[in-house]
Amino acid sequence: MSLDPLAQSLPASSRQKGRKKPPGLADIATAALSSPASTFRLSESGTFEKGGFQIKASGISATPARHGDFSSLTLSDLSTLHPLGTGACGTVHLARHRPSGTLLALKAIHIMSTQGERHQMLNELRALSSFDHPCLVPLLDAFYLDGSVYLALGYMDGGSLEELLSRHRPVAEGARLAITGLPEPVVGHAVLQTLSALAYLHGRGVVHRDVKPANILLDSQGNVRLADFGISKQLEATFGVARSFCGTAVYMAPERISGADYTQSSDVWSLGMVVVECAVGLHPFAAAQSYYDLVVGLSSGADPPSLPEGLFSAEARDFVAACLRVDPEKRATAEGLQRHPFACAVSGDGTARTPDQLVAGAAFRLRQWLSQTFGGGDG
Ligand code: ADE
Repeated sequence: MSLDPLAQSLPASSRQKGRKKPPGLADIATAALSSPASTFRLSESGTFEKGGFQIKASGISATPARHGDFSSLTLSDLSTLHPLGTGACGTVHLARHRPSGTLLALKAIHIMSTQGERHQMLNELRALSSFDHPCLVPLLDAFYLDGSVYLALGYMDGGSLEELLSRHRPVAEGARLAITGLPEPVVGHAVLQTLSALAYLHGRGVVHRDVKPANILLDSQGNVRLADFGISKQLEATFGVARSFCGTAVYMAPERISGADYTQSSDVWSLGMVVVECAVGLHPFAAAQSYYDLVVGLSSGADPPSLPEGLFSAEARDFVAACLRVDPEKRATAEGLQRHPFACAVSGDGTARTPDQLVAGAAFRLRQWLSQTFGGGDG
């Protein structure tokens, strides 16, 4: 699908010099939360309105100062290139912002017609726009066109951790390695950065709800950013619990499958599953007939997944065990895990380090590994 024909037909930007500044996403979020749902209105003319704000094809936000110079970003200035991925809730395309030449990830989310679903969409925008962290994918702007909201997101040119695993598998097989997963320190570099994002979200009372390798993105500099926070809530509202269960169940914490709400520790379980999958090269339940049966087994005393002894360090095994405690009350926290030796030993140099320095060290070492393994860059 090309968005270009649609974009070309758009009116010129309404945000030229001298015009009144449109409300920022933060204003929108506040309105969405504080006003009654009945004030939503989706007009025939292609404007999504609520209370005092509008989302038009010409854009809505004034947030980009934090994330680069996109103060004049409009949909008609974007050329869509190829799809980056398709999820249950929409497609992400690579797009070029023609005036600056900058690449973006443009995510289309179809807006359902009920008030609840539009609320969810606004909640996602609120969440995305109010966060600013080096390990979260930034929202640059958002647009409404023909029943869909388009989110312009920072582009991560290294793909996802899921893609990295697939790219690495033939390398490991070629080297006749016993396991096809990523080297343990590499998993540590990615996990430390993901933990930094999770600790940031959890510190603000936000649960990600969909931590999985496909949502952990990399760039060629070794930076790792978590994507899609807030999305799974929208999925549930849109397709119902059964659909979102199909999409992401294999990373889902046992308490969630037995009907309890997501909590911050549910994200920590999912991260533990990600670590096992990335280190071993296969999802721990890949061969299972029924994930549901496995989870029921866990609740009745079966051992949670672990890293096999002898193939992995004691630190990595302990990290996974701390994430994959069946009782959510006993799981480690994202904040605490940032100081776990598995996450930080491989990224620091042994001297005392701040979390920010550890994240920078993790990115630096990950970039070196990417360059040594796949070529390009500055090894
Ligand atoms: N896939 C989904 N979101 C993406 C992003 N921001 N960058 C690259 N690929 C993506």
